[in-house]
Amino acid sequence: MKEDKLAIIVDHGIKDEWTNVFRRYAPDIQIDEYPDLDDLSSYTYCFVWMPPKGLIAECTNLKAVFSLGAGVDHILRDETFPRHLPIVRMVNDYLTDTMSEYIVLQCLMHLRRLDEIILAKADKKWTQFLAPKASDVSVGIIGMGILGYDAAKKLKMIGFKVNGYSRTPKQYEGITCFHDGQMDEFLNETDILISLLPLTPETQGICNYEMFKKLRRNPLLRGVVFINAGRGGVHKEADILQALGDGVLYAVSLDVFENEPLPQTSPLWKHPRAFISPHIAAVTDANFASRYVIDMIRHHQKGKKLKNVVDMTYQY
Ligand code: NDP
Ligand code: OXD
Repeated sequence: MKEDKLAIIVDHGIKDEWTNVFRRYAPDIQIDEYPDLDDLSSYTYCFVWMPPKGLIAECTNLKAVFSLGAGVDHILRDETFPRHLPIVRMVNDYLTDTMSEYIVLQCLMHLRRLDEIILAKADKKWTQFLAPKASDVSVGIIGMGILGYDAAKKLKMIGFKVNGYSRTPKQYEGITCFHDGQMDEFLNETDILISLLPLTPETQGICNYEMFKKLRRNPLLRGVVFINAGRGGVHKEADILQALGDGVLYAVSLDVFENEPLPQTSPLWKHPRAFISPHIAAVTDANFASRYVIDMIRHHQKGKKLKNVVDMTYQY
């Protein structure tokens, strides 16, 4: 039997020492980093983020592809990707916990009007106001997967009323669950909308002006808030700007964008009610990732099933 070989093909803004970290954890496996790869047909596994189009198709002896991220749209955007190959998504506690921290941070910032407090301090203004309690506000999470469910539990613990929306029906204690076909009911009970959806042909552009118009207007809040930490392709930035302009939305927190990095020309950069972060809500950590991938390879070598494999019918 030929030895397994792992190719690391990572184009990521955070220059972690991926390959060294992986090699330290698995000194017995040959691990090479793109572009310094051997004959592509000699690799049996690869670990990727934004792989160059066509490259994976040339790795003709792969047994599985590991995604650096929980999302896999960066792999499936390549029409030459061999659809029979299993893709393993990134799932780990660090990613889940940090995403929930980002979501809780944004919800509390909008609840407690932190943006106004920061501006008032800059002007040395002593402006007092009363903020609503979390329990006066309904947060709706669209995308109740691993990340959405964890964020929902933590928001619930703080006191928010939490609604969840997913493709298939769910039952979670203390969370009002909606699914495909119940979108209007979900939006009608949501004051702060959070998207933790993957980008798929079905979710592309669904967070749009028509959706924002259907959100509930809670008089205790300054207005409706939209938070997106899933994928930018799920929302429409022109619609977000229109909605911020005419009051359909009061504020947004966006970690992901239709085009990344967010173009310098985007009006979102300077919009006073748009909180912008550079796709860092939850960043994959090389130590967690190397353990996850190598342990899974060893598991697979023993003939066991891969976990967290993408369902190619739904593309997430
Ligand atoms: P999961 O696959 O666990 O969850 C996806 C959720 O979306 C599921 O609840 C699924 O429904 C739901 N969903 C999918 N399609 C639809 C649809 N058409 N209509 C309604 N609901 C739908 O993914 P994770 O929670 O692990 O990750 C979610 C996304 O977060 C990733 O795909 C990635 O894009 C993004 N992400 C962003 C990061 C950042 O730093 N900004 C970091 C990490 C991830 P069902 O449960 O019925 O299948
Ligand atoms: C991910 C991401 O998909 O970081 O994990 O965006």
